[in-house]
Amino acid sequence: MATTVAKLIPYHVPLIEEEEIRAVEEVFRSGWITTGPKAKSFEEAFARYVGARHALAVSSCTAGLHLALEAIGLKEGDEVLVPTLTFTATAEVVTYFKANPVLVDSEPCHINLSLEDIERKITARTRALIPVHFAGHPCPMDSILDFAESKHLAVIEDAAHALPAKYKGRYIGTWSPLTAFSFYATKTITTGEGGMVTTDDDALASRISLMRLHGMSRDAWKRYSAEGSWRYEVLEAGYKYNLTDIQAALGLVQLAKCDAMWRRRAAIAERYTQGLSTLDAYRTPRVAPHVQHAWHLYVILVEPGALRIHRDQVIEELSQRGIGTAVHFIPLHLHPYYQRQWGYRSGEFPVAENYFGKCISLPIYPGMSDGDVDRVVESLNDIASKFRR
Ligand SMILES: Cc1ncc(COP(=O)(O)O)c(C=O)c1O
Repeated sequence: MATTVAKLIPYHVPLIEEEEIRAVEEVFRSGWITTGPKAKSFEEAFARYVGARHALAVSSCTAGLHLALEAIGLKEGDEVLVPTLTFTATAEVVTYFKANPVLVDSEPCHINLSLEDIERKITARTRALIPVHFAGHPCPMDSILDFAESKHLAVIEDAAHALPAKYKGRYIGTWSPLTAFSFYATKTITTGEGGMVTTDDDALASRISLMRLHGMSRDAWKRYSAEGSWRYEVLEAGYKYNLTDIQAALGLVQLAKCDAMWRRRAAIAERYTQGLSTLDAYRTPRVAPHVQHAWHLYVILVEPGALRIHRDQVIEELSQRGIGTAVHFIPLHLHPYYQRQWGYRSGEFPVAENYFGKCISLPIYPGMSDGDVDRVVESLNDIASKFRR
């Protein structure tokens, strides 16, 4: 007897269409596959899109954060404030300088970094802070920048989740002196792996441009091209952090679809919020006024009083119904490295830990149909009825 198997709804599927495939094919046929004219066009298009003076394409957001800290002259022994509720990359880059990542708790509403906890963590050695726009919900950039200025701290935004996010009508990417974006495979636009740093500051842009390609003098990437010259100078010991034209070609097509893909994710978020609003077992995300949420993630919280099962079992139940999910994030202070190296212990960051114990990131990507979204909602509904207290 034939059984019908419900369609799988993976946690994420990038929207790669014929256009992207053709754009990459064109690069393959052009004879120039590494950094070149496409990377330059991608930078120009990205700068125009967010409204920044400079956009510098790099191999990842991690590379972008590293270059940004290098550009502000971070030194050994300096301290950098980083939320504990983030991906390890945000804090790891600080250690590249033998500087110290100092973890900060989240505020309870949008789970961005807590300004109150920052106040408690500042010391004479604090040099910078890295706000992360968690899930794509912007941090209050005006308060953060005012605060940082009053304490003489540099601000570098981790905008890995925040394209296209706006705070008070202005794109994330135009607020602080330095912002780093990610184009990793699951992000809102993708180049497979890749990133971009935006800045309005000519000196910072030129430092990052130098350091992302071995500290070689400008246009050294053209040294094998017909119009370039073999002569270049090595001015610094830099890094190999350039973005290839293969990736940039993909990025250009994705950027052109960024608004349309955002509209679809926003519609999915709205459908989830409506569908789940009657269920007391789950809490849906809150959105502050004056922001455009990028909706990179749609994170629900499993309310502990309502169900007989815990978040981990809800994930398992969804998985049995063919629905992929993720958890963002295991707070950094709960990982062995941060405990061993920096002495953090569980219990130190109550807001982040409480959130981590309850959070589930649901699938949210433009290729999902309304029917897929409804299936996720119905499954959550079904789980809530089955395991109600
Ligand atoms: C908050 C955050 N920062 C940084 C990164 C690193 O991005 P990339 O993989 O482009 O280096 C990620 C990746 O998931 C992230 O979620």
